[in-house]
Amino acid sequence: MSLYDVVRPALFALPAETAHGVGTSLLRATQGTPVERVACERLRVDDARLATTAFGQSFPNPVGVAAGFDKNAELPGMLAALGFGHVEVGGVTAERQPGNPKPRMFRLREDRAIVNRMGFNNHGADVVGNRLSRAALPGVPVGLNIGKSKVTPLDEAPDDYRYTFERCGEWVDYSVVNVSSPNTPGLRELQHRDALEAILGTLLDAGARPLLVKLSPDLPEAAVEEALAVVDDLALDGVIATNTTTSRPASLRSPEQAERGGLSGKPIEHTATGFVKFVARRTDVPVVGVGGVSDADGAYAKIRAGADVVQLYTALVYEGPTVARDINRGLLERLESDGFDHVSEAVGVDL
Ligand code: FNR
Repeated sequence: MSLYDVVRPALFALPAETAHGVGTSLLRATQGTPVERVACERLRVDDARLATTAFGQSFPNPVGVAAGFDKNAELPGMLAALGFGHVEVGGVTAERQPGNPKPRMFRLREDRAIVNRMGFNNHGADVVGNRLSRAALPGVPVGLNIGKSKVTPLDEAPDDYRYTFERCGEWVDYSVVNVSSPNTPGLRELQHRDALEAILGTLLDAGARPLLVKLSPDLPEAAVEEALAVVDDLALDGVIATNTTTSRPASLRSPEQAERGGLSGKPIEHTATGFVKFVARRTDVPVVGVGGVSDADGAYAKIRAGADVVQLYTALVYEGPTVARDINRGLLERLESDGFDHVSEAVGVDL
């Protein structure tokens, strides 16, 4: 029984967003204190077999924090101390935004899932940029997930994304164009060729490298092909597959599945892994695999499907703060039993 097994019922007695606030306050309060060093010693798995490179970045291990957990870039140090090999902060938008009315985050406990319709609540690019410029950033890559401000019309999206990059991009190791969150009206239309080309082209002109794009699992196959053609044409640095889904698998049991928003966690795991495979088959760019990763088997499956590194969010809620360590330890066991000397040897072996 872990400490989190004791703490979880108390957290789960609170509304999901309140519990998230409690968790992140604790992480903020301990960041930069001796607790961070102790966490580091206990939770970081230092092993050369897990260290990997993708889009010019060196990752100490392949397990990162997905966008949305640290929307305002307040916790990268502590999240690295929990053993994550990279941290993607954001989604940050040009304008400071309150997001949608609460409640807007729901646990589907029986399904080990979350539905959220946060709507890019964040402090905005000016504040986050200032914070990043002053932060003692951790020794792991930090990515910037960029969203579109709700008030900005779709045809002005390129400058909106550019503004956020110009305020924050200097302090991070890679940037991500997020055109796949389901909670900003019209956002996902920006995944179509012309709109995507305009946004990515504007960011590349502004010097955004490495630049990745994050796609929705709800895109029809032809639209994915189109987006990947843009990725190839613009020689983008990578694809993140995938964001949350508005679909509701028939297997769901929790009543909260009826809430509007994007579904994440265990029920999207296999679809997301299939999406990773699809992307990896059709492009040569690195793939970041995300969706339902909660244990070493899930992380390993995404790596074997072609993901260079993986990310998770929902598993932090259900498995707790030791999840990165547990996955990294399990990955080492799986590499060993499959006869791989290094995690990079396992990337794409199931393709
Ligand atoms: C997210 N996710 C997300 N993604 C993104 O690109 N920008 C964002 O701002 C957010 N915000 C966000 C908030 C909340 C509450 C959740 C649960 C998720 C999506 C996230 O990064 C990831 O793609 C999905 O959650 C799937 O991964 P998991 O959660 O199944 O590991």
